Amino acid sequence: MTDLPDLSSKVAVITGASRGLGAGVAEAWGARGIQLALCARSSFAAPAGAYAAQVDVASAAAVAEFAQATVERFGRIDLWLNNAGVLEPVGFVHDLGSEAVRQHLAINALGAFHGTQAFVRHLRQREGEGVLLNVSSGAALSGYAGWGPYCMGKAALDRLTECVQLEEAAHGLLAYAVAPGVIDTAMQATIRGCSPEVFPAVAKFHDLKAREAFNSPGYVAHELLRLAYVRRPTGVVQRLEPEA
Ligand SMILES: NC(=O)c1ccc[n+]([C@@H]2O[C@H](COP(=O)([O-])OP(=O)(O)OC[C@H]3O[C@@H](n4cnc5c(N)ncnc54)[C@H](OP(=O)(O)O)[C@@H]3O)[C@@H](O)[C@H]2O)c1
Repeated sequence: MTDLPDLSSKVAVITGASRGLGAGVAEAWGARGIQLALCARSSFAAPAGAYAAQVDVASAAAVAEFAQATVERFGRIDLWLNNAGVLEPVGFVHDLGSEAVRQHLAINALGAFHGTQAFVRHLRQREGEGVLLNVSSGAALSGYAGWGPYCMGKAALDRLTECVQLEEAAHGLLAYAVAPGVIDTAMQATIRGCSPEVFPAVAKFHDLKAREAFNSPGYVAHELLRLAYVRRPTGVVQRLEPEA
């Protein structure tokens, strides 16, 4: 696809890059010559030339250290993708344990906060713009029974992204919270494995699988770069169109 500028001088961070959407985006961005700093909690095989680290985004200190190590290695960070996320716990609010919800939000909301903070602190230390992409979800925009924590965390992420865009525009930040559509990853397999008792909308996701009606990671990777470097719409909260 040729509708993108040459991005081979860019340095990008991707959290949650060990599998699924993050791994797919890393592969596609790496193929464009973008230099990559990748992390996940587990150890994983990264594309050649990438810097890969084991980082739990729930730890502010670990994310700050990862950002620092990336700058030491590549000199700067141009693009930061907060992609790390979890689905569980799934269940009705009535039945959920608060510790499980706290752990979920420590990743999906606070984890993205840590990445956002590390990136804007870096931006204030150098000249020029930087692009923040926070991976959100349609679940930020409307509720699903059984997804209380997930919807809560993604809605929080959308608002956080709007706030930081207002705060840091003068320091070169361009920030988007992006719902990527449905991608057939381990998270989708977990969704399909839910019983209708805990997730009544599960049939919709079986239907998507039957029709293979997914956005591919390669498509999402490309659309994220178009958003960041070509389209640049004014609204912070964005939703990718289904792949044709
Ligand atoms: N798949 C979809 O249809 C869909 C739709 C809308 C939005 N999303 C969002 O897209 C993102 C990626 O989802 P996915 O479908 O690719 O899920 P996935 O296949 O389960 O991958 C999640 C990634 O996040 C990492 N991760 C989880 N917790 C982490 C933590 N505390 N610290 C660092 N890394 C962590 C995982 O690695 P480790 O387990 O090794 O840490 C893995 O690399 C998520 O934010 C999700 O909410 C997905």
